[in-house]
Amino acid sequence: MQTKEKDTTERPEGQFLDKMLRPKTWENYIGQTSIKQNLDILLRAAKEREHPPEHLLFYGPPGLGKTTLAHLISHELDVQMKVTSGPAIEKVGDLASVLTNLTPGDILFIDEIHRLNKAVEELLYPAMESGSLDIIIGKGPSARSIQLDLPPFTLIGATTRISLLSSPLRSRFSGGVHRMVFYTEEEIQQIVQKSAGILGISIDKDALVEIARRSRYTPRTANHFLKRCRDYAQVNKKDSVDLHTVIESLNLLGIDPLGLSTADRDLLSALIEKFQGGPVGLNTLAVSLSEDEGTLAEFNEPYLIQIGFLERTPRGRKITEKGRQHIENY
Ligand SMILES: Nc1ncnc2c1ncn2[C@@H]1O[C@H](COP(=O)(O)OP(=O)(O)O)[C@@H](O)[C@H]1O
Ligand SMILES: [Mg+2]
Repeated sequence: MQTKEKDTTERPEGQFLDKMLRPKTWENYIGQTSIKQNLDILLRAAKEREHPPEHLLFYGPPGLGKTTLAHLISHELDVQMKVTSGPAIEKVGDLASVLTNLTPGDILFIDEIHRLNKAVEELLYPAMESGSLDIIIGKGPSARSIQLDLPPFTLIGATTRISLLSSPLRSRFSGGVHRMVFYTEEEIQQIVQKSAGILGISIDKDALVEIARRSRYTPRTANHFLKRCRDYAQVNKKDSVDLHTVIESLNLLGIDPLGLSTADRDLLSALIEKFQGGPVGLNTLAVSLSEDEGTLAEFNEPYLIQIGFLERTPRGRKITEKGRQHIENY
């Protein structure tokens, strides 16, 4: 029987695409200039001293390049990176096993670090500060604590919810706490162009501009849209992505000309219709939309705030005049 080999070089598919699109060099990591400058100094100094850099924290909305930065740092230092996440480390023992399995110089990347539980967090403090692991052995009166020395390592934390990170944990990122900023439209255009190159998609300039305009200043969203536009072009037997393709395929996804999704517009409409424009607490708003609070705060709100459609006030969320007009005219 003949088996057909899958050709992954011609038309790489599925999850491989995302991996392919992740920048492998600093030159291909567009934007975030200030963070890159700071990291450059930190990494150069660490290399000269032949000691791992101090712990780093990246925070900001999803898809802005936090994980990518961590990978770039591990490449730059030529060290291994162990990847885990806050919710994955359930017990103190889980963290102890991760830490004791590090080799000298490793990077430990903890995604969603705001979701570490208290007990795990407390074990992490001495590990971050003095490279030691304090473990309690036994129970009750016979319990005793032993201290293990850990290999030198760098912890890189990432979070979309900096406000949920405890301040003792935050203060231990002595190498720097960096806020990821939204990209400019020009930067997103560059990213789309590079991605199109990697995927072998031919795309018109105005199509590229339109994808960038609707991408919420976010690289992951831009790449996602590019892939959907490519699908649309392919199914419609077009050999390049033109403006019409972009408009048609993004409209089909419910993405409006400003990049708002159906969920974003629902949020704004709920504010107008159910709460007279606000202010209303995040929790109440979430319940009224049958949505999860975290999803609203992480995915929807940052962009709406960035474009001046939504305000966070001490008394809750409020729609702005600009936001109201967009919904009324849509
Ligand atoms: N500065 C950048 N330049 C080019 N592409 C980027 C950049 N930042 C992110 N990307 C793209 O967006 C995708 C999502 O980035 P990622 O690092 O996973 O975001 P986060 O961890 O902040 O959610 C990456 O796989 C990459 O393709
Ligand atoms: Mg990530």
